[in-house]
Amino acid sequence: MVTTRAPEDAYTAGPFVPEHGGLTALRKAAAGCRGCPLHRDATQTVFGAGAADARVMLVGEQPGDQEDRQGKPFVGPAGKLLDRALAEAGIDPGDAYVTNAVKHFKFTQAEPRKRRIHKAPNLREMTACAPWLAAELALVEPELIVVLGATAGKALLGSSFRVGEVRGTVLEEEIHGRRERLVPTVHPSSVLRADDREGAYQGLVQDLRTAARVLS
Ligand code: URA
Repeated sequence: MVTTRAPEDAYTAGPFVPEHGGLTALRKAAAGCRGCPLHRDATQTVFGAGAADARVMLVGEQPGDQEDRQGKPFVGPAGKLLDRALAEAGIDPGDAYVTNAVKHFKFTQAEPRKRRIHKAPNLREMTACAPWLAAELALVEPELIVVLGATAGKALLGSSFRVGEVRGTVLEEEIHGRRERLVPTVHPSSVLRADDREGAYQGLVQDLRTAARVLS
């Protein structure tokens, strides 16, 4: 029997990433990515969105239920909260390039037609998807990366990343061969889940104000 499935230890998007072409070519190629098993249950690849000359890149974890259905990042409840927080911090959400560490929705579902529950991607899936993020960074060349939560932080800065230790600070790190400036903060979904939602929201806005200062 012929199978196109990669062996478990060889999950990678690498062979699917085109060597030439801009974001449009990348997005088109990503739609056919089979670099890890997550494409099987997801509706579609959710690639990054925004201008190729955006000064700031926002990196989240993976698309959620709404993003999976609509094919665009951060269009669900977390995205709406993020847009509000960005605007309040002085960053026009329309000026940002928005993407995720992992481009397919990972979820569990008790039964067909029941609610799809988000499941965090594992290290192998994050590593498999990394070539897409590397290609986006190489094309957009943002002045600043805003790291939204632990998964994005681990994908960009390694498994020892702890968002609570570095949130709201300006980091400088070598990432995929480029010197990058980053401001980590919490994931907007964590604000939606927080007991003190207003306090968590104000914390996010404060971190994003640091990002706005770097860009000013
Ligand atoms: N959460 C993310 O990390 N990314 C999205 O696109 C939506 C929700």
